[in-house]
Amino acid sequence: MEIKEIVAIAIQEQVKEHWSMEDVLARISPPKYAEMGDLALPCFELAKVYRQSPQTIAENIVSKLVDVPLIDRAEAVSGYVNVFFNKELVAAHILKEVLTKQAHYGDLAIGNQEAVTIDFSSPNIAKPFSMGHLRSTVIGNSLAYIMEKCGYTAVRINHLGDWGTQFGKLMVAYRLWGKEQDVKQRPIQELLKLYVRFHEEAEQDESLNDEARLWFKKLEEGNAEARSLWTWFREESLQEFSKIYELMSIRFDSTNGEAFYNDKMDRVVQLLEEKNLLEASEGAQVVQVGDDVPPCLIKKKDGTTLYATRDLAAALYRQKTYAFVKSLYVVGNEQTLHFKQVFRVIEKMGYTWHEGMTHVPFGMMLQNGKKMSTRKGKVVLLEDVLNDAIALAEKNIAEKNPTLRDSEVVARQVGVGAVLFHDLKNFRMNDIEFSLEDMLKVEGETGPYVQYSHARASTLLKKGAYAEGQSSQSFVDAEAWATIKLLGEFPEAIRRAYESYDPSQIAKYLLELSRAFNKYYGSVRILDDATHKHARLDVVKAVQIVLSEGLRLLGMTAPKEM
Ligand code: ARG
Repeated sequence: MEIKEIVAIAIQEQVKEHWSMEDVLARISPPKYAEMGDLALPCFELAKVYRQSPQTIAENIVSKLVDVPLIDRAEAVSGYVNVFFNKELVAAHILKEVLTKQAHYGDLAIGNQEAVTIDFSSPNIAKPFSMGHLRSTVIGNSLAYIMEKCGYTAVRINHLGDWGTQFGKLMVAYRLWGKEQDVKQRPIQELLKLYVRFHEEAEQDESLNDEARLWFKKLEEGNAEARSLWTWFREESLQEFSKIYELMSIRFDSTNGEAFYNDKMDRVVQLLEEKNLLEASEGAQVVQVGDDVPPCLIKKKDGTTLYATRDLAAALYRQKTYAFVKSLYVVGNEQTLHFKQVFRVIEKMGYTWHEGMTHVPFGMMLQNGKKMSTRKGKVVLLEDVLNDAIALAEKNIAEKNPTLRDSEVVARQVGVGAVLFHDLKNFRMNDIEFSLEDMLKVEGETGPYVQYSHARASTLLKKGAYAEGQSSQSFVDAEAWATIKLLGEFPEAIRRAYESYDPSQIAKYLLELSRAFNKYYGSVRILDDATHKHARLDVVKAVQIVLSEGLRLLGMTAPKEM
C-alpha cells in the first residue's frame, strides 16, 4: 500500500461523515517545505461543515493520529495537519514495494480492463507527416501506456486523413506536373512538392480549384482513374508513415481512416433523420447543438459529406466494436469546436456513452514563434528530425563510449527518446518552440539525461554484482531519503498524468528522480563499503526499475548502457 493511503485511512476515520477515502486522498499532498512534514491536510473546508476553526479541527485530528503505522508524529499548524514519516520505516516500506512489484510498481487499478479508445497521430495522407502530428503521436502513444497502467485496455486508433478535397488538388497537380518515377522514389517529398505547387498556381489561376473539386467529386463517385490515383497515393504515404512509426516503436490496433467510413455515413444521416435532429439550413443539412456552439454541418449543399459526419460514423462504429468506456481524441487545440459539436450530436442522439468522450487538445508547434504550415512547403519533416537526432546520438557514442555493444540500437533509442521527451516534458496545452538543437541536448531537462541516469544505475548494479534479496538489514543512508521519497511518489505522478491526460506529469517526475539520484550517488560511494553495499544497491535497483517503467510510459526505451 502507498503510505499516502495509510495516512488517508487514519484521517478518514476521523471525518467519515463528510469525506470518503477518495476525498481525503485528493486533499492530502506534500507541503511546500520539508520542515512542514511529508504530507499535509488543509482543514479549511472541514471548518465550514463542522463550524469550528480550522486549527481546532487540525488539533482534533492530530490528537487521534496515534499508532499509525510508519508515522512518527503529526502536528497541527495554522489549520493544517502536518504528518511526519518515520523515515527509516517508510524508506524500507517503499523499497520493498518497488523491489517486489518491479515493473508493476505504480499500477493503479482504476479501471477493470474496460476499453479506452485513443484516436491519435491521424496524419493526412498525401501530405507530409508534420511536427504538429508528432505532438499528437507522442502524447497519444504515452496516454495509451498510461491508460494501461491504470487498468484499462487501450485501443490505439490512427484515424488517417485519407479522404477529402486535398486529394482533388493532388490529382490535378499530378496530372499536370507529376512524374510517376519521382513519386515512386520519394513519395512524400514529391507529393508535397505537387501540393505546394498547386497552391502557388491556384493563386494565379482560379480554375484549378474548380478542377480540384471536380476530381474530388469523381473520387467520391468511384471514377476509376481517380480511385486508382487515390489508392496509389495512399499506399505510398502509408509506407512512409510506417517507417516513422517503426523508428518510434509505435503500433496501432486500427488504421481505419476517414475513407473507411464512407459506406457508414448514410446510416448516420438516417439515424439523425429518424431522431428528428436534421434541419435544413441554406440548402445544407445541420444538427443544432445549443446556443453557445454553431450547428454541426452534416451534409453539404452538393450532397457530399463532411469531416464531422465521418467522425460521427467513427464514434458509432467504435462504440459498437469496442464498447469503450472512454474515448480520447488527441488532436490540436484548433479542433476544439469540431469535437464539441460532434460530442453534442452524439448526446442529442440519446447515447449515454457520450460522457466518456474527451477531446485531449494540445498547443502548437511553433517555428520562430509562428505556426508551422504545410501549404507553403516550409515544413520540417519528422523523419529528418528523427534521423538527425539518431545521427547525433551515434556521434556522441562514438566519442564517449566507442566500444559500446549494439551501439546502433542504443543510438536509435537515445535519438528518438530525445525527440519524444522534448515534447512530453511540456504541459500539453503549451505551445512548443521547435528547436532541433534543444531537443538533442544531452544535459539538462532532456530524455537523454533520464536515460543516462538509468544507464548509470544499471552500471552500478552490474559493477556491484547486485543480486536481489541479498540485503537483510534495513540500513538506509540519510542522503538517500530524497530519492526514496520520490520513489514513493511515482504512483501519484501516474495518477496525475491519468487524471489530466498529461504525460508531462511523468516526464517532470522522472527529471526530479534523476536529479535526486545523481545527487545521491555523487555524495555516497555506493560500492566502497562492503557492509552497506547491498542495502545501497537496493536503492539503486529501485531507481532503475522506476526510471525504466516511467520511460516506458512515455513511449521511450531505457538502454542499460549508453
Ligand atoms: N487528420 C486530422 C488532421 O490532421 C486529424 C484527425 C483527428 N481525429 C479525428 N477523429 N477527427 O487535422
